[in-house]
Amino acid sequence: MPCVCMRSLRLRQPIRKLLVVLGTLALATSLQMVFLSAMQLVPFMLFHAATFTSAWYGGLWAGLGCASAGAVIGNVFFLKRLAGSSFSGDAIVATLSFLAVGTVFSLLSESRLRALRVAAEAVRLRETFLSVAGHELRGPMTALQLRLQILQRRPELAGNSDLQAARRNVARMEVLTRELLDVARLQKGRFELQKRPVELGELVRQVIARMSDEAEATATSIAFEAEAPVQGQWDPDRIDQILTNLLLNALKYGRGKPISVRVERRAAKAVLSVADQGIGIAPADQKRIFERFERAVPEGSYDGIGLGLWIAREIARAHGGQIGVESEQGKGATFTVELPI
Ligand SMILES: Nc1ncnc2c1ncn2[C@@H]1O[C@H](COP(=O)(O)OP(=O)(O)O)[C@@H](O)[C@H]1O
Ligand SMILES: [Mg+2]
Repeated sequence: MPCVCMRSLRLRQPIRKLLVVLGTLALATSLQMVFLSAMQLVPFMLFHAATFTSAWYGGLWAGLGCASAGAVIGNVFFLKRLAGSSFSGDAIVATLSFLAVGTVFSLLSESRLRALRVAAEAVRLRETFLSVAGHELRGPMTALQLRLQILQRRPELAGNSDLQAARRNVARMEVLTRELLDVARLQKGRFELQKRPVELGELVRQVIARMSDEAEATATSIAFEAEAPVQGQWDPDRIDQILTNLLLNALKYGRGKPISVRVERRAAKAVLSVADQGIGIAPADQKRIFERFERAVPEGSYDGIGLGLWIAREIARAHGGQIGVESEQGKGATFTVELPI
């Protein structure tokens, strides 16, 4: 199937270029005919436009083809009336100038298209690299995490600080690789939601339970509050990811103070909020932290690369929802996710 698609794509491209050349030539010829007297002083003007368009779209050969055809049409239908013959000195100079401009423009367009192709290839390579590296790293990392968990269960190693440090570092690396993989997925547009009925409170409870290790490591308590069940059609793995990212941040930037998570229903929206009492975010930074690689903490002070909130925002948007923050520096932050029900 991919092979057939590639072949038809490869065929479609030259056909499209040819159609652009023919279309622009037809348009230039008909406009030239309609405005015959007005165009007498600049007989090749419209054919220049046709050549520019063809070269810009199709590159060197489309541009040269259009210029040559334009020179012939211009001579046969329009120039003869003006100069008497295509072989008069004036007609030859006009035709050669037209061809020269067309050739230069076609060459320039070709180099522009080549640069675009190189850039597109570089982006493709980077995305492939990110997703392959992410996939390949995840396997050994999960295995390592499991081994460390098994080791930690041994009574003689239970409180071993080296082992705890190793687990924390592997967990960090897991977050990083997951984020890189998500970025690759989001950029490739391979981001398909698997929506199904979800009870948000239940999902939140599961995520909090799963993160108890991380909470314990920083001696942070996570309280959860939900007035009533909030049911909706969402992709549970993705919502899990939003909450995981918000909780990891609250643990990281929360200075060990209690975190509270809330689920409620407001009109036709499910609202999930994560509040901490940590370092907070200055008003000037509150918007940009949702962008890729944007961080509001000094380099080297907290680990991370600034992708978690961007991923969370993209997932919320893909669901037709949104994410925002309210915060005062030094007084904690409350992140709120709104999802349509
Ligand atoms: N709960 C929070 N409290 C204070 N600052 C936060 C919080 N969550 C996020 N931030 C700020 O937003 C930035 C971007 O967050 P994120 O995209 O998760 O990246 P990372 O955590 O890798 O830095 C963080 O670097 C931090 O400056
Ligand atoms: Mg983060």
